[in-house]
Amino acid sequence: MPNRSPLLLRGRLLSFDAAPAGAEDTDAYVYEEDGALLVIDGKIAARGRYETVRDKAPDGKVEEVDHRPHLLLPGFIDTHLHFPQVQVIASWADQLLDWLNDYTFPAEQRFADKHHGDRIAGAFYDLLLSHGTTTAVAYCSSHPASVDAYFEEADRRRMLMLGGKTMMDRNAPPALCDTAQNSYDDSKALLQKWHGRGRAHYAVTPRFAITSTPAQLEAAGALLKEHPACHLQTHINENHNEIALTKELYPDAAHYLDVYESFGLLGPKTLLGHCIHMTGHEMQRMRETGSVAVFCPTSNLFLGSGLFDKAGLESAGIRTSIATDIGGGTSYSMLRTLDEGYKVLQLQRQRLHPLTCFYWITRGNAEALSLTDRIGTLDEGSDADVVVLNARATRPMALRMETVESLAEELFVLQTLGDDRAIAETYVAGIASKPV
Ligand code: GUN
Ligand code: ZN
Repeated sequence: MPNRSPLLLRGRLLSFDAAPAGAEDTDAYVYEEDGALLVIDGKIAARGRYETVRDKAPDGKVEEVDHRPHLLLPGFIDTHLHFPQVQVIASWADQLLDWLNDYTFPAEQRFADKHHGDRIAGAFYDLLLSHGTTTAVAYCSSHPASVDAYFEEADRRRMLMLGGKTMMDRNAPPALCDTAQNSYDDSKALLQKWHGRGRAHYAVTPRFAITSTPAQLEAAGALLKEHPACHLQTHINENHNEIALTKELYPDAAHYLDVYESFGLLGPKTLLGHCIHMTGHEMQRMRETGSVAVFCPTSNLFLGSGLFDKAGLESAGIRTSIATDIGGGTSYSMLRTLDEGYKVLQLQRQRLHPLTCFYWITRGNAEALSLTDRIGTLDEGSDADVVVLNARATRPMALRMETVESLAEELFVLQTLGDDRAIAETYVAGIASKPV
């Protein structure tokens, strides 16, 4: 794709340098009331006050887009969702294991067909971008063709996406089951094909302990050891029946996390979905290995899984991220996800500040992925993935905004009332991408 001419995006800039320590921690972020970003070759070449940045633009060649009075933030990052569950969202089920058997496994079987994967990939990326999400970490199905569909479409759109083939060799329909050996071979071939191609990152993806034999988890560990640049994603401690069945399948493990640790699956690039029902020993090993606990609030409420203890995990020194978990999750929107997350934490008397919330879905999630040099901020040198937010997008938002007096209040309106209607534009590598 040819590079476009330089772009000057004008608006109110907000980008985080660190997690805000509290409401008054203005050192944690940069806010520019009349700001601009200069985008050259898909990267942020300059950021600052509008007049200053405009003067840095190459003479005569720059295309200027005035987004005032909207906010410009780094594109949102979703750290856990399932690409083959676009048609599973909103399925009326009991809890996790029934939901998997009754709806999820049947839907994932359709991804053996590459045409189906291609069609859903187009819709999937349209949905992510229209909700302001520019990077996500997804489980594909167990079929290699689904991984190709996923990364081919991301590549066409120049998106930085992470994902991988779901490894699962038991306790699922035969049409979804691979074997320890062929899941290793297929994952390795896909990883060699996709990791580092364009903006793609591969994640080794054993679904969870219940659907993997020890031999398969060993294969996942071997892949990770051979390719330490790759991430690893799996699920843990989401649901009580899941935990009980895992204990039966791995009777020698000290606890659920120990199943994964004993196969070498923990580390700073490990993303562990849910982490709701954690023991003290598990928390200690999470901290010591630098593994990330991924909070999926809409999913945890929808499946009745439980309440994520953000303060407890973070005070134990555990890294956290936040995610939609489509299709157990019920919205593609990271704004809706923050809203539900806020309520999950309110129930535990943990009150999340709006600045912390927007840190979390931008820089915070980039830190969890060890990718802050590329995404999650508006820093010079970053990829130009940018979301434009309109806090007056709907009547309730516009009326509430009449009384808003601070940036924090505006952010809280966006997270409490906002959804895809609040996304005025999404830029991927400097190219506007919101479908009309
Ligand atoms: N545990 C194993 N697979 C899944 C899945 O697809 N969704 C959720 N929420 N939990 C899981
Ligand atoms: Zn999941």
